Amino acid sequence: MNERLNTFYETTLGRAYSCDSLALLRQLPDASIDLVLTSPPFALTKKKSYGNVSATSYWSWFEPFALEIWRVLKPRGSLVLEIGGSWKPGFPVRSLYNVEVLLNLTERSGLFYLAQEFFWHNPAKMPAPAQWVTIERIRVKDSVTPIWWLSKSMRPKASNRRVLRPYSKSMQNLLKNGYNKGKRPSGHDVSNKWGNKHKGSIPDNIIIASNTRSTDRYLDACRALNLQIHPARFVREVPEFFVKFATVRGDTVLDPFAGSNIVGEVCESLGREWISAEINSEYVYGSSFRFEGVGELVYALYQAGDAEHLLSLSSERESQ
Ligand SMILES: C[S@@+](CC[C@H](N)C(=O)[O-])C[C@H]1O[C@@H](n2cnc3c(N)ncnc32)[C@H](O)[C@@H]1O
Repeated sequence: MNERLNTFYETTLGRAYSCDSLALLRQLPDASIDLVLTSPPFALTKKKSYGNVSATSYWSWFEPFALEIWRVLKPRGSLVLEIGGSWKPGFPVRSLYNVEVLLNLTERSGLFYLAQEFFWHNPAKMPAPAQWVTIERIRVKDSVTPIWWLSKSMRPKASNRRVLRPYSKSMQNLLKNGYNKGKRPSGHDVSNKWGNKHKGSIPDNIIIASNTRSTDRYLDACRALNLQIHPARFVREVPEFFVKFATVRGDTVLDPFAGSNIVGEVCESLGREWISAEINSEYVYGSSFRFEGVGELVYALYQAGDAEHLLSLSSERESQ
């Protein structure tokens, strides 16, 4: 029997663990989660401070997580996986490890279906690797990350009605003045139905969003306490889109590679229950400040010397 894991902090709707998420996943009941929304470490050649797995051993590292994620998902649940590509070490050509992951999760294992592929375009991405992009100028900025929306069944729970966008000016004009009816060169037959006004326009499978904020509760607290700000955070719009799209109020969302726990924050604000796991306790501590009053409580425990895990965190930092 596994030892029960303790939460690092809890909120009205969620609980955050500082642990290897494989240990947590193994303790979660079968078919208990509606959405797993996560961004695992990518197989980058330039390593991030939280560590990365190499492209060659990526699937053998990820497979045990994939099997557990499949087990804990409800039959109509989804796995939304943001997993970017990388470059082959020393060469200006791409590694296909993330495509391998997709094939292994779907066609080769029979575990998941690819419900749809999405792309996150972050216009603020740095031009890297510098050697190919800014020095030799033989590649362009890599500013799009694939997000695989995977499902256990062919009809996962989802509704684009929950993620409608405001109509653009030109669309508003079209709806007002009407479409020219008839066949288009694309083969589409534009009928009267095309002019029906709904509550907004159906979004594309491209999410355009950048991390341009320089201050918020999380950033301010990390700076004040000299905690490392997570270097690979989701932009809020990304988890917000999928939480709304694939779940309803009261559903449960899990992020097993939670980093700064923006997924938890989004869920809390949208009335979804959430569970997060992050192996680096410094990130978990910082993330507690996303939730009003929670970070302050953790801080007070830390000051009182009540939280052993927080004390070990401070000694880790001092020895660096
Ligand atoms: C790409 S980051 C996630 C960032 C997150 N989406 C955010 O917006 O802050 C991946 C995270 O996975 C964590 N990680 C790596 N292996 C882990 C494991 N076995 N269990 C839990 N967390 C892990 C890393 O420490 C890192 O913070």
